[in-house]
Amino acid sequence: MEDKKFTVCIVGGGSRYTPGILKMLVAEQDRFPLSKVVLYDNEYDRQAKVGEYGRLLMNEYYPGCEVIDTTDPEVAFTDIDFAFMQIRAGRMKMRRSDEHIALKHGCIGQETCGAGGFAYGMRSIPAVCDIIKDIRKYSPEAWVLNYSNPAAIVAEATKRVFPGDKRVINICDMPVGIMNQYADALGVPRNSIEPRYFGLNHYGWFTAVLDKETGEDYLPRLREIFSEDLPEEAFSELDASWSATFHFMRKMVRECSDGMLPNTYLQYYLYNQHMLAEENPDYTRADEVMNGHEKMIFEMIDEVIANGKFEGTKYAFTLESLKDDDHATYIVDLAYALAHNTHDVFLCMTENDGIIPNFSEGAMVEVPCIAGTNGLEPLNVGEIPAFQKGLLENQFAYEKLTADAALEGSYRKALDALTLNRLVNDTDKARALLDDYIAANKEYWPELK
Ligand code: G6P
Ligand code: MN
Repeated sequence: MEDKKFTVCIVGGGSRYTPGILKMLVAEQDRFPLSKVVLYDNEYDRQAKVGEYGRLLMNEYYPGCEVIDTTDPEVAFTDIDFAFMQIRAGRMKMRRSDEHIALKHGCIGQETCGAGGFAYGMRSIPAVCDIIKDIRKYSPEAWVLNYSNPAAIVAEATKRVFPGDKRVINICDMPVGIMNQYADALGVPRNSIEPRYFGLNHYGWFTAVLDKETGEDYLPRLREIFSEDLPEEAFSELDASWSATFHFMRKMVRECSDGMLPNTYLQYYLYNQHMLAEENPDYTRADEVMNGHEKMIFEMIDEVIANGKFEGTKYAFTLESLKDDDHATYIVDLAYALAHNTHDVFLCMTENDGIIPNFSEGAMVEVPCIAGTNGLEPLNVGEIPAFQKGLLENQFAYEKLTADAALEGSYRKALDALTLNRLVNDTDKARALLDDYIAANKEYWPELK
């Protein structure tokens, strides 16, 4: 096993995140050797550029690792060991539509939360499930590491459509991103700490942050550190919305009940009015991404391709200089743990079968799991307090109804889901939103009756 070279398929190969993932695979070549990376996407032109960029990258920094790009599922999925799956059904254009429609109705316009997350979920469920069916046709044993959003809703659907398939794993990088900040604040290496956490995806709380060697719980210290406001210029290297998120996290920590540490996404649910007031209905996060990160990545790709190699461009690097990319490292860490049976702990989505005894059985909860060759073994969480339980049950019912609506094609359940969503919370508003979203999503949603 140690000597095996793996084949990885990046599903959503044309994504702005793919160059970062490829670079991370380069960085990990000794620990996680690959013979081939396959890029799969349904949009040829965009992915072909990323593929060309990937070949130039491997040529210079990872000799022996082949890169192919394809839009043919049989070519993409035959004989692969891993699928890293991060698709965006409808692309940024539809993210923009989701966010703008929500704001038009006076609701938060966000990728995964609230009405926008619902619209995206209705697109993602059929798209993700169809691709996993294809993967299973050609590589029944491959590990499918899925981080397509909205991950909570997608996980609820994959659980039902692929029952008992322990090699489909749903995971998110946000807790890892937050843990990186904890590690930096503590001045310890990222992989020396381990979380205890519970919730649904983008809706959870850290209950402990443990030193892997000594068992010391750093959470009380982190609560103190993260209660302090930072100078305004902190996070100025980030986009405005992420900078605001990490500043706001400090207020959430101060006000968080029960001595826990909140996931940043709780800002949308717990400070709904504040977040709504912060949003610009004419310029949402989708606009910011399209004019910022996405543009920058594709400019980089064009420049490297035009130059025919990295050397001689500002994007040339040395292997030692490769820094962590949250969107990439954790997924390689997980793949490594699954392949090499390391039993490291990851926060993943898994079915609640008594992990949280006072929470709905069968819900896809995000909790610490031991990862190894047999898949995930969740750690016990125990009973959760009334405040979190109330919030989570409401959110789970919304997510479950959204999956029902997509899988059954039910207008009624879609309406119930939106009405239940804490960021909508009104039947008239829910109906108006739903009808606008149906009109905007004709190409993507199942028909609702
Ligand atoms: C975090 C979340 C992802 C989400 C991303 C959005 O990484 O965990 O689920 O997709 O943020 O970032 P963006 O930069 O696209 O707003
Ligand atoms: Mn996420």
